[in-house]
Amino acid sequence: EKGGFEHFMLKEISEQPRSIADCMRGRLDAKGGRLVLGGLRDYMNKFQNADRIIITACGTSWHAGLVAEYLFEEFARVPVEVEYASEFRYRNPVINSKDFVIAISQSGETADTLAAIELAKEKGATIFGVCNVVGSSIARATHAGSYTHAGPEIGVASTKAFTAQISVLSMMALMLGYQRGTLPESTYMQLLSELESIPAKVEKALKLNNQIEKIAAQYKDASNFLYLGRGYNFPVALEGALKLKEISYIHAEGYPAAEMKHGPIALIDEEMPVVFIATQDSSYEKVVSNIQEVKARKGKIIAVVTEGDQTVKKMADHVIEIPMAHEAFVPLISVVPLQQLSYHIAVMRGCNVDQPRNLAKSVTVE
Ligand code: F6R
Repeated sequence: EKGGFEHFMLKEISEQPRSIADCMRGRLDAKGGRLVLGGLRDYMNKFQNADRIIITACGTSWHAGLVAEYLFEEFARVPVEVEYASEFRYRNPVINSKDFVIAISQSGETADTLAAIELAKEKGATIFGVCNVVGSSIARATHAGSYTHAGPEIGVASTKAFTAQISVLSMMALMLGYQRGTLPESTYMQLLSELESIPAKVEKALKLNNQIEKIAAQYKDASNFLYLGRGYNFPVALEGALKLKEISYIHAEGYPAAEMKHGPIALIDEEMPVVFIATQDSSYEKVVSNIQEVKARKGKIIAVVTEGDQTVKKMADHVIEIPMAHEAFVPLISVVPLQQLSYHIAVMRGCNVDQPRNLAKSVTVE
């Protein structure tokens, strides 16, 4: 049932071109300029007129929420707050009927996320679910929702569910921007085709697997890792670090690259591998200077860059070249080599990648 793969995790990583396409199938038609999310139909008014979007989730799903914050703010100019469900539910948060709450959950069973939904519901907010498991508790507790259609995710470390969540949230952001008039028609049309082109680019990125396996072999004995990115790639840095720690048990931290100089830079020496997500986007130049800062302190640099990059190649110990895409959709591609890196390191360390210690696929207790 692993389809010829050694582990579910690698199978699920490799399925992403298809799972992202499945998520967009029947919803996104770039040529026809159409975007339809059935679940949103009855709530489009609430969504469009919301004063604020609150996103609540845990773990990897919370990282998808962070990507969505950038998407919604950029395309739809609506304020967004991304909340850990466990903090949100106990904080006596300010919520009202003009808030549109999006709860993200692969399993649809996460206890804290479910409790956050109940709380926001009591306060009169509209709750929209982005779940993978059909008929799950969260899917039933929300007013409406869109499934991610990634198919069953067996590996405990979430991979294809994450990219499917971002796909749904990207479609929602584009719809909202178009409806609110913050995205001009021509930009909207262009973004639709950019999004539609992502599965083919993920397919191409997957071909880097052998190169990444070789990098993994060089760093498998490291005790620490740092992951750094800015803008849309900041949540990807967090996700890369989470993937590594949960399956390989190597301590890893993700940071916005510019925060490095406020503390973590003290950790850098020749023993410290630093993974940069340094694709060609609006923060590229800034990331390049952050890379120089690490290089000056002899950190080992593994950089995910855009194909054809020349600048970072001269500074990094390893470059992983991924296809060019619109910066808003780059996380769907840039996360893939990080998933593969953590996978290979964990396998080489003899870890049980599909069922890491102390972790469960759905966290039904708080
Ligand atoms: C990480 C991971 C967890 C989950 C988190 C939320 O790989 O799997 O961090 O993302 O427990 O789970 P869901 O999305 O099912 O609510």
